[in-house]
Amino acid sequence: MLLLAIETSCDETAAAIVRDGREIISSVISSQVAIHAAYGGVVPEIASRKHLESLAPVVSQALKDGGVGMEDLEGVAVTRGPGLSGALLVGFSAAKAIAVALKIPFIGVHHIEGHLFAPFLEHTVDFPFLALVVSGGHTQLYHVEGFGHYTTLGRTVDDAAGEAYDKCAKIMGMPYPGGILIDRMAQSGNPDAIRLPRPLLRDGTLNFSFSGLKTAVLQQTMKNPVSIPGQAADDLCASFQEAVCHVLAAKTEAAILQTGAARLVVAGGVACNSGLRRRMADLCKKLGVELSIPTPSLCGDNAAMLAVPGDYYLSHGHVSPLSLDVTATWDMDIIKESIT
Ligand code: KG4
Ligand code: ZN
Repeated sequence: MLLLAIETSCDETAAAIVRDGREIISSVISSQVAIHAAYGGVVPEIASRKHLESLAPVVSQALKDGGVGMEDLEGVAVTRGPGLSGALLVGFSAAKAIAVALKIPFIGVHHIEGHLFAPFLEHTVDFPFLALVVSGGHTQLYHVEGFGHYTTLGRTVDDAAGEAYDKCAKIMGMPYPGGILIDRMAQSGNPDAIRLPRPLLRDGTLNFSFSGLKTAVLQQTMKNPVSIPGQAADDLCASFQEAVCHVLAAKTEAAILQTGAARLVVAGGVACNSGLRRRMADLCKKLGVELSIPTPSLCGDNAAMLAVPGDYYLSHGHVSPLSLDVTATWDMDIIKESIT
């Protein structure tokens, strides 16, 4: 099945052409990051308007890059939620319009389901597997038994890991989104320089908490202001990265031991993080677990990842009705009921 996939849940306007939910024919991502950077975060109203401007050219580019005509498309997969309602509506309405015009089915997909299956665009992962999704809006551990069959084992009780990265970067005076900048500066810093808290490390649950870490970084910078570039800033970045990765790895290890998982998927924008990739590789080697982390270009928001579950659902007879609406919040555990 040749699918057009569309993603507009936050600040990336993306479209992709994917064959059989596995082979990327083309993938185009137009980022709004530079526009939102001036405001220190994503401004929902601006995001919607920018998606409206960019979506048609992005879809045209994906078709052109793939050498695909509209008439070749057999279905449309689009992010239905979670995300910014206005932003979601732009991609969702376009997907419906394309589906109606071409008389092909469309399917609304959970954004995190896309992240979860991004590794499938490079190689297949057998079910069941454990998944750690770490992005700007999510930090969750899932037990994945198949498409649509997810059990949440743990989640953040406050900030997501990516949010914590971005907030700490902002405290240190870096532009939005600062996750990648902290990662870069951490390479030259000492991870043991500043002792930062490891929230919920030994609370006996698989939940996460990152807001205390952000407060600790704020207190630290008030006590000892850092200038960028500088060794003190690099040390703070390295210490912060060490604290985040320590907690993520410890909870993932606990989840692996608890579930007896033989396979681990790490996905979402923060899965680009060099420290996290290293730690997860070490952990999986130690436990004899097969690790799948998408190539960095497939970790962040993109449309191709949506085609993996999209293709599965459409080829198994699940088609979204044209009356379906977007949803700003959507629990992964209930997808099972909504697709049957
Ligand atoms: O998955 P994603 O592209 O969008 C959401 O669905 O949220 O994730 C974006 C998040 C941002 O918070 C960004 O700062 C973070 O991923 N991020 C990183 C790195 N690259 C992106 N965080 C830490 N280290 C990185 N290398
Ligand atoms: Zn995402």
